[in-house]
Amino acid sequence: MTDGVDRERLWISDDAMRALGHRVVDALVERWSSMEAMAIPPTPPREVVRARLAEPMPRQGRPPAEVIERAVRDVLGDAAPTGHPRFFGFIPSPSNFAAVLADALVAGFNPFGGNFVEAPGPHELERVTVGWLRDACDFDADAAGLFVSGGSMANLTALCVAREVKLGGEPKKSARIYVSEQAHGSIAKGLRVLGFRRECVVPVPTDDAFRMNPVVLDELIRLDRVAGNSPFAVVATVGTTNTGAIDPLEAISAVCRRRSLWLHVDGAYGAAARLSPRAREQLHGFALVDSLSLDPHKWLFTPYECGLVLVQDGAALARTFAQPADYLDDVGSDDEPDLQDQGIQLTRSLRALKVWMTFQVFGADAIAAAIDRGVAQAERVGRRVEAMPGWQLACPPSLAICAFRYAPDSMTDEDADALNFGLVPRLAATGEAFVTSTKLRGRRYLRMCTISPRTTDADVDRTLARLDALARRA
Ligand SMILES: Cc1ncc(COP(=O)(O)O)c(C=O)c1O
Repeated sequence: MTDGVDRERLWISDDAMRALGHRVVDALVERWSSMEAMAIPPTPPREVVRARLAEPMPRQGRPPAEVIERAVRDVLGDAAPTGHPRFFGFIPSPSNFAAVLADALVAGFNPFGGNFVEAPGPHELERVTVGWLRDACDFDADAAGLFVSGGSMANLTALCVAREVKLGGEPKKSARIYVSEQAHGSIAKGLRVLGFRRECVVPVPTDDAFRMNPVVLDELIRLDRVAGNSPFAVVATVGTTNTGAIDPLEAISAVCRRRSLWLHVDGAYGAAARLSPRAREQLHGFALVDSLSLDPHKWLFTPYECGLVLVQDGAALARTFAQPADYLDDVGSDDEPDLQDQGIQLTRSLRALKVWMTFQVFGADAIAAAIDRGVAQAERVGRRVEAMPGWQLACPPSLAICAFRYAPDSMTDEDADALNFGLVPRLAATGEAFVTSTKLRGRRYLRMCTISPRTTDADVDRTLARLDALARRA
């Protein structure tokens, strides 16, 4: 035991734990303190990364300090800093250090968060934290929910409950579910996992601002009923990934109520805006929906992985997922279903702690202010783009996303598509900022998602100026 490691017992001595723990904390603080000034590293060629990491399973252990150093340098070092103030791609994850510490505590204590008997505090904490978000989202007091890995799992979980309640658990061939053409791919993926055929998923067109059209939705449902199909659910989105569009929940829920359909809302990215008294004015009708996804690892500033699923009829979660087993009789409870009986995972950790610590350390007012800031930055992007000759917006910015493209009159649509697509790697190569692109009505657009509370006006302006220069030089 020369380096504090007892290899036969897979044990590290107290002193070594402390010293190594400090090294890990130092590496984290180094990453966090250099984040704002660092260049965003470009993606290295795959062969380079492969050559750096390929090796057979080590037969003998190595000094842990060396292993940590290598993990930081060779494994984690080139991962995109998704919390960087000029990382505007996809939906970033500008997390916070209090939540990082929560994850460290959870990894160390390793609670089994599936039931009350094994981890009473963790189990109750998840109920409390889910309750905060349930109230912020206007769900009833007897609604229930739990934390899962992210939006994809939250959507899958909710759709599974919808299938159970509306179709008795059977993904029958005639079942029909209506999904905005702008919905996130996790909806189609989840429905595939649940056994629905492709034809069961009916795309619903959107308006000029990429919001689901409730009149067309109603007509599609009527036509399907006439054709003998079985409409059972609608998926709306609050904050689409492409443009941040908010589907009109009140009108959509009126259709669902009239026709007895389940309404799931994918708010993985946008529903967190309910936490802001200002932004929530745009988000109506939450009390009218049956289930909701909301990702704390996006706009509630926690690290991956953290998604929330909420179901208005709380008992439906246990009706869908409870799975008694003789080997679990010792930890069962008759008065209240445990979390292991309300979702897909049996063994589950404590994602709630990072949400709870975020609110405890910073307070809900600071979170609300950070959300407002993200919305204001997207509005700034919109104003600046409108003032840049040759550039156009896809639609006005919504929540914290703005989609736009360089397409001067002299350029064909096809050339503009190619140019905008090429701007993504060209901007990334500068290391200065990172944006991603998408297609809207068949045309290529850039998009910036400005949820990072560390993004300044200067960061936005600098990114747009650089894009403009690159576009003109192309
Ligand atoms: C609207 C929306 N729904 C679902 C998801 C999927 O979430 P996750 O990647 O956490 O599984 C995303 C991801 O960006 C999203 O933007």
